Amino acid sequence: MEALSVIILAAGKGTRMKSDVPKVMHKLAGRPMINWLIETAQSLNPIQIIVVAASGMEDLEAAVAPHTVAIQSQQKGTADAVRSAFPHVKNKSGKILILLGDEPFVEKEQLIGMIEAAPSIMAFRAEDPSGFGRLVQKADHTLLEIVEDRDANNQQKRIALCNAGNFCLEYEQLERWLAKISDQNAQNEFYLTDLPKIAAADHVFFNIIEVEAEQGWGINDRIQLSTHELYIQDILRVEAMKGGVTLIDPLTTYLSWDTEFGRDVVIEPNVFFGEGVVIGDGVEIKAFSHMEKCKIGKKSIIGPFSRLRPGAELEEKVKVGNFVEVKNSKLAVGVKANHHSYIGDAEIGAGTNFSCGAITVNYDGYQKHKTIIGEKVMVGSNVNLIAPIIVGDGAFIAAGSTISENIPEDALAIERLKPEFKAGWAKAYKERKKP
Ligand code: UD1
Ligand code: MG
Repeated sequence: MEALSVIILAAGKGTRMKSDVPKVMHKLAGRPMINWLIETAQSLNPIQIIVVAASGMEDLEAAVAPHTVAIQSQQKGTADAVRSAFPHVKNKSGKILILLGDEPFVEKEQLIGMIEAAPSIMAFRAEDPSGFGRLVQKADHTLLEIVEDRDANNQQKRIALCNAGNFCLEYEQLERWLAKISDQNAQNEFYLTDLPKIAAADHVFFNIIEVEAEQGWGINDRIQLSTHELYIQDILRVEAMKGGVTLIDPLTTYLSWDTEFGRDVVIEPNVFFGEGVVIGDGVEIKAFSHMEKCKIGKKSIIGPFSRLRPGAELEEKVKVGNFVEVKNSKLAVGVKANHHSYIGDAEIGAGTNFSCGAITVNYDGYQKHKTIIGEKVMVGSNVNLIAPIIVGDGAFIAAGSTISENIPEDALAIERLKPEFKAGWAKAYKERKKP
């Protein structure tokens, strides 16, 4: 394929999002929308990807690195945005593909279609086309012009074929036609969508590549953000199931763009995966569990109602049960923490049992401290392990103990007051209280 440069427009204010975050940094399946689009653009092996941003969008610049960022100093429209990218274009003989940063789910094949058909634009049919640019065609379907919604007359407003906003053309054509775009329109903006009309005056007509409405209509507000989330969740769920994962109720499994599954994983309803979760073969995730940046080893059983936070690394056959939270901790083979525990900044050896209500006390109000527990330790119910602390292999810790010193191997640690029994006290008390 001929040399290609890609320009992605992302400098818009995103007013309709009502947000302090640049629109293209809003996430879909845990990943900023701009990064979805960059991945697809990269798959075309372009010479260069230039992202047009407004000044002060540091997060956006970091998210698109190492790609070139061009700054559009004032948001005067999509054509003005392309103009700000122009000085950065290295290759002046190839094709330029212009993509809107708020349309993250266009597909590689569709873009290849556009490149092959250049000069070309992407379009879609909408049941309700209001708000979009409309494609005005001659009887033989030749594209005459695109009319923005605000500039359209009543007849044009009835056109269902809408502009998706992506263009592909030769550098030389773009340079020539871009110079002719004016801001004489309802918004006093420089519209890139004037290109087909200007080209038509030169007797060059843009070809139309049609895509699904969901791919072409872009994200302008939070409602469209949510419809795109549903769209990508659906794709991720199908991919997971095709890869050998059972989703008992797919509509309630929320995946991240990078969730990795082994084979024969079973996911019960209402489970959420944040970014960076890797799951081994045969793992079972029971209902209402929440995971992010963690690794779950083969044949482990998680949940129901478990929370695995960043840095939770579980080896094989680990059990983490209801209301157990694990953070920045390594649990070796066969560790069990089945009920109501907090395990933070810990290393737990193979076969250790962490009983109901046992917790690591890792924070002293200023710093986090480490808990190291050996193999085959029995941590009793409601034990507080005050870190830093080391528990030797095979030790037993009696229920209810609060321990702040290291425990030797195979020892019993017990911290308990001797109970007192006051004979008849309860009976006497109740009698006293009787009305
Ligand atoms: C645009 C199209 C419209 C099309 C619709 C499809 C124009 C003039 N209109 O409208 O025909 O139907 O997309 O989704 O192109 N941007 C800049 N700098 C600017 C203005 C915009 O970089 O000065 C960027 C935005 O960040 C955004 C993209 O260009 O990623 C599109 O801008 P947006 O304001 O969303 O245009 P729409 O109103 O959606
Ligand atoms: Mg838009």
